[in-house]
Amino acid sequence: MTYQIIFADEKTEYRAEEGMTVLDAQIAAGLRPDAFCGGKGTCGKCSVTIDGETVLACRTVIDRDMVVYTGRTGKEHTQILMKGTGRQIRFLPGELPGNLEAPLLAAVDVGSTTVVVYLLDGRDGRQLGAGSRLNPQRQYGADVVSRCSYAMENGAEILSGCIRRTVNELLQETARRYGREPEEIVRIVMVGNSCMHHLFLELPTKTLVLAPYTPAVTEAVSMKASDCQISIHPQGELLWLPNIGGFVGSDTVGCVLASRLDQAEETTLLVDIGTNGEIVLGDRNGMTACSTAAGPAFEGAKITCGMRGSEGAIDHVYLEEGKIKFHVIGDGEPAGICGSGLLDAAACFLKAGIMDETGRLPQTYYFTDRVFLNQQDIRELQLAKAAIAAGIRSLCLHRKTEVAQIRKLMIAGAFGNYLNPDSACAIGMLPAELRDRISSIGNAAGEGAQIAALNVSEYEHSLRLREETEFLELALDPGFQDIYVDELGFPEEEMG
Ligand code: FES
Repeated sequence: MTYQIIFADEKTEYRAEEGMTVLDAQIAAGLRPDAFCGGKGTCGKCSVTIDGETVLACRTVIDRDMVVYTGRTGKEHTQILMKGTGRQIRFLPGELPGNLEAPLLAAVDVGSTTVVVYLLDGRDGRQLGAGSRLNPQRQYGADVVSRCSYAMENGAEILSGCIRRTVNELLQETARRYGREPEEIVRIVMVGNSCMHHLFLELPTKTLVLAPYTPAVTEAVSMKASDCQISIHPQGELLWLPNIGGFVGSDTVGCVLASRLDQAEETTLLVDIGTNGEIVLGDRNGMTACSTAAGPAFEGAKITCGMRGSEGAIDHVYLEEGKIKFHVIGDGEPAGICGSGLLDAAACFLKAGIMDETGRLPQTYYFTDRVFLNQQDIRELQLAKAAIAAGIRSLCLHRKTEVAQIRKLMIAGAFGNYLNPDSACAIGMLPAELRDRISSIGNAAGEGAQIAALNVSEYEHSLRLREETEFLELALDPGFQDIYVDELGFPEEEMG
């Protein structure tokens, strides 16, 4: 038995089998809904309206024809970050397959939230253009652990299939935008965290989510692109930079390559904040990396009015003459609050005495009738910020480095680019004493992938970075839990 499902806001119809959930039908209809908990019914982000009633799409089984209102137009307006550190390198691509006169190269950064493709000229290394999309895997879970669990329960091919399709579409779209064809691409270098890496390559994810949390493969992968259904030149090669350990993957190797942390004269801290915070501390004498589960709060999940940094999101909150003011992306009515807004709001609440340093918020704070932050939201923020702060402290302890000895704090990634460092320090996510040493290095992971595609000795260097970087597994570190609990509160006084 099948039923007709009309998605009114997206102007899309779908013929659904009886027994599918509305969320299944949205996915099957290609609507890419948000399902941060992977359809477990716990995140509340998949709510839709059917017959005037608000229900969870993942918990609603189709048993009749339905008209579904999702409140979305189907367009994705998320801000996507493409710039990096701007490091200049020599064009030295080595031998390229295919013998083309004007070959193309590509670099792909598979983030948990966004996928970015860069197209490079294989004759002189110029960047021709870039394209990006939200990672379609987010409909199977916002964080990497829910996606790995989904793959374990339902088969990895669903998740690998959708990300490979997106990479193919992006390569084609980007190449054609510049009057070229994807068949002219002869080399792709890819980066992503270990989970993105495993799901793309359809490797088992069980060892990643169960102790001792080790990737099935850490070595760099070199294969024919056609072997993983990536449609470029028939002889085109596909290279994944190596993973370091745990969830610290080739994206971190890319960040190190772009930022040259491994050659730094002074102690440097690199923090890539996403659903997982990847943190590296060290200098040219050695580096240690760890990964800390910040969870998807910074991307809007688990926050009642949370959303990604797209149109309608409160992205900036500030105090003006003692009053709380905010800025909305697109300058329209606020529809929710994104990660950078959340950080700012907490910093303002602390400063204005609306919230105390334990995180107690006596009453829900309303920005508008519809957009607010409540006690539970603040608790989620505390968990997320404590994960980052505790990761930094653990690395410092492990490397016997005082925070004050760190000369440079580089923040990579989209969230790091948009957050206000003053707020990050005020809420104790980043050490306040490093406030003046913080710089944003943009999408350094994607930049590292481009560097490796363009210069063969840089690529070889990236392979050594895996061996040179020590991995610290925080889940097995006996002191971590205490540090984490200690970091849950907010600093007593705002600094910075
Ligand atoms: Fe439905 Fe999370 S509650 S996807």
